Amino acid sequence: MLIKPGSKSFWKLSKPLLFLICLLPWVILLLQAFEVMGLGLGANPVEELLHELGRWGLKLLLLTLFITPMRRWTGWNWLLGFRRMLGLFAFFYVVLHFFTYAILDQGLDFDAIIEDIIKRPYITLGLTGLLLLIPLAVTSTKGMMRRLGKKWQKLHRLVYVVAIVAVWHFYWQVKLDTLDATIYALVLMVLFAARVYHAHSSRS
Ligand code: HEM
Repeated sequence: MLIKPGSKSFWKLSKPLLFLICLLPWVILLLQAFEVMGLGLGANPVEELLHELGRWGLKLLLLTLFITPMRRWTGWNWLLGFRRMLGLFAFFYVVLHFFTYAILDQGLDFDAIIEDIIKRPYITLGLTGLLLLIPLAVTSTKGMMRRLGKKWQKLHRLVYVVAIVAVWHFYWQVKLDTLDATIYALVLMVLFAARVYHAHSSRS
């Protein structure tokens, strides 16, 4: 029997499945970090962990932004039902990315962390992204959505600012090969173009 998208049984199955899929990179990183089943993080484990967590945060952030244009193109309104979980997982990975930096990379040396935030613009940008994500995560519940009404949508437009800041942060910390960061920037540009196109076509 085929499950109809948007039906009760569809959500019962798809949400836990998406939850597990989003958790998978973290589980794999844990297995690598503890060298389970011959896995490992390579010669520079802290850097690898930091980079992978940052990349997953950014991937999920972009995927969250992809939901709305995808829903408009396909008419699959049920896609909206996955947006909150993707956004919260983006936040989860960014928080872990920050803790990896603060605890494993900087050894919780607050003076060094503050100096980094002041002296390295890419760290300042990263922190800005993380701080902007906090009100979005806090107001992501259905109750908050209802309470804030139209203000909720306005507030959640901040996610575009976070995405720009995050891609910029990625681009700025690259030492040599900028190809990957450029690809993420291009994906973000396409997402913006889709938004602008929709705004224009719905006005005319
Ligand atoms: C929205 C928030 C953020 C996102 C999406 C993000 C994402 C990323 C990405 C994609 C990378 C590059 C990974 C690679 O090269 O493979 C990166 C690197 C890095 N991020 Fe973030 N980041 C964020 C916030 C932060 C914050 C709050 C901090 C610390 C205060 C931070 C510290 C770093 C550091 C230290 C690196 C590595 C730099 C290096 O290897 O030289 N990030 N981040």
